[in-house]
Amino acid sequence: MTTLYRCPLCSQPLKLREQGFQCDNNHLFDKAKEGYINLLPVQFKKSKEPGDNLDMVQARRAFLASGHYAFLQQSLSKIVSETDHGTVLDMGCGEGFYTQSLKFRTNQVYGIDISKAAVRYAAKRYKDCHFAVASCKQSPFEQASFDCIISVFAPFFGDEVYRLLNDGGTTIIVSPGPEHLIELKQMIYQDVKKHTLMTCPLQFKLLKQEVISKKVTLNAAEAKSLVLMTPFAWKFRPEHLAMLDSAATLPVTLEFALTVLKKPRAA
Ligand SMILES: C[S@@+](CC[C@H](N)C(=O)[O-])C[C@H]1O[C@@H](n2cnc3c(N)ncnc32)[C@H](O)[C@@H]1O
Ligand SMILES: [Zn+2]
Repeated sequence: MTTLYRCPLCSQPLKLREQGFQCDNNHLFDKAKEGYINLLPVQFKKSKEPGDNLDMVQARRAFLASGHYAFLQQSLSKIVSETDHGTVLDMGCGEGFYTQSLKFRTNQVYGIDISKAAVRYAAKRYKDCHFAVASCKQSPFEQASFDCIISVFAPFFGDEVYRLLNDGGTTIIVSPGPEHLIELKQMIYQDVKKHTLMTCPLQFKLLKQEVISKKVTLNAAEAKSLVLMTPFAWKFRPEHLAMLDSAATLPVTLEFALTVLKKPRAA
């Protein structure tokens, strides 16, 4: 069976064989027992454990299980359901929280992430999506393979997304809204800078950009998990973590920008 994957070593299509995924040049990639494939050859790795480590992955899993980000998951899934979504790719998919919400009745959904710890969790949990350890910068897919590509709080490589999208395909990028987690930032920064919204990369056409937000009240355990999954976790000193522990509850603004871009059809 031919898949959308191509060999990271020689770019030939990968076929699903009994032993794993194989190209015509006999490069073979095993399917892990959890069901994912590793398409990040060791010579392409810049560090031993690239991407989010197990602690970050576990913190994110714990926080996402609280349901506070469900409104983002629902908004994203609604946008994808309203566009062409026969083949969908989640780039930097983490543990697959958003990926699995894009699996509708008959479509094919793929998720890639450079973190093996994250992909392992995703593949174990969501059996009806395809997961691979791979880089978003040089991804192991044929060009024009996807109708829709999403990127949620992950590095966005515009040229690669453009290559992978079909003509007329859509990409949805989720980034922090201006006031996202402002209360947590006020605990550690004197001068809190608000996030700015992304501008449309030249190759794409901006279809829409919306900001959604919600104020939630977190308990100490949820607040700690949320901090650990943010890029500013390393700024939290023991005294800040103690503040989180001592507050019975913590009001926090969750705010997300959803930017919807289209790859123009060829003239
Ligand atoms: C903030 S997390 C978001 C994960 C997921 N999208 C979510 O929102 O739950 C960013 C993810 O991007 C992954 N990542 C970072 N650089 C990457 C790259 N070059 N290629 C693929 N994944 C990457 C990390 O391993 C991490 O899982
Ligand atoms: Zn090959």
